[in-house]
Amino acid sequence: MVQDIDIADLKRITELIQKKHGYDFRNYAMSSFKRRMLRILELKSMSVEALIKKLTEQPTFIDEFLDELTVNVTEMFRDPSFWRILRDEIIPGIQLNHKEFKIWHAGCSSGEEVFSMAILLKEMGILDQVTTIATDLDVNILEKAKSGSYPIKNMELNEKNYIRYEGKKSLKDYYKEENGRAVFDKDLVKNVSFRKHDLVTGEIFNKFDLILCRNVMIYFNQSLQNDVLKKFHESLFKYGYLAIGSKESLIWCDIASKFIVVNNEEKVYKKIKD
Ligand SMILES: C[S@@+](CC[C@H](N)C(=O)[O-])C[C@H]1O[C@@H](n2cnc3c(N)ncnc32)[C@H](O)[C@@H]1O
Repeated sequence: MVQDIDIADLKRITELIQKKHGYDFRNYAMSSFKRRMLRILELKSMSVEALIKKLTEQPTFIDEFLDELTVNVTEMFRDPSFWRILRDEIIPGIQLNHKEFKIWHAGCSSGEEVFSMAILLKEMGILDQVTTIATDLDVNILEKAKSGSYPIKNMELNEKNYIRYEGKKSLKDYYKEENGRAVFDKDLVKNVSFRKHDLVTGEIFNKFDLILCRNVMIYFNQSLQNDVLKKFHESLFKYGYLAIGSKESLIWCDIASKFIVVNNEEKVYKKIKD
């Protein structure tokens, strides 16, 4: 069992991933990055040297490695009060100016957030007026998102969140049970494009009215948060909204003066300056 990994080894692995595979983890928060790395070594019963060899010699191993390295924990209607604010204040605010609008889910993980948004929009009667891009760096998790199929045991928490969100129906109305899984109605995501995109190295690719990047930047250091927030600022139309996770904040970032706080508890901000 691997007890510890020193900074020099973390650096070697990080540099190898960057040079060979083009992913840049140098500015991820060190403590959680180290914990995840130790977890991989333990899970795979590997030494640091064996991991480096595999990452060097087996090109396909990187996807499996990234899937373990990134934290993919998510829920439907995670933080129900946030989803209520989205439905009751933010989306009506966007609609004042645009009937049709665009949403980006950055770091969408297995898609629970995307399906929650689709259900919210459907219940508002505006699902067809919205174009959505859902991105993540982890291709394995994106496949799960596209499938919209989740273990049925996860549905208890998802249903609880939906009830606290005060949805119009029962969550069960949106999925079928098949072989122990909840398979969501594909029509919900017919206007969603799921794409691989790395927030660290990726280019800006479109303009949006609303960006959700929740519980992703918590794994970045301050310098990377600044860089990524600049990309979000550029990717938003003026008066567009940015929603981040409840434990994250924009207040200390370089770009803070170009946003106003719309809801401090739910971490929703509005771009006011180009
Ligand atoms: C904890 S999940 C958050 C999922 C969802 N947004 C939520 O709040 O429930 C974090 C996600 O960010 C993704 N991620 C981490 N680094 C990323 C990067 N550089 N670019 C894009 N996605 C990234 C991970 O793969 C993971 O799926």
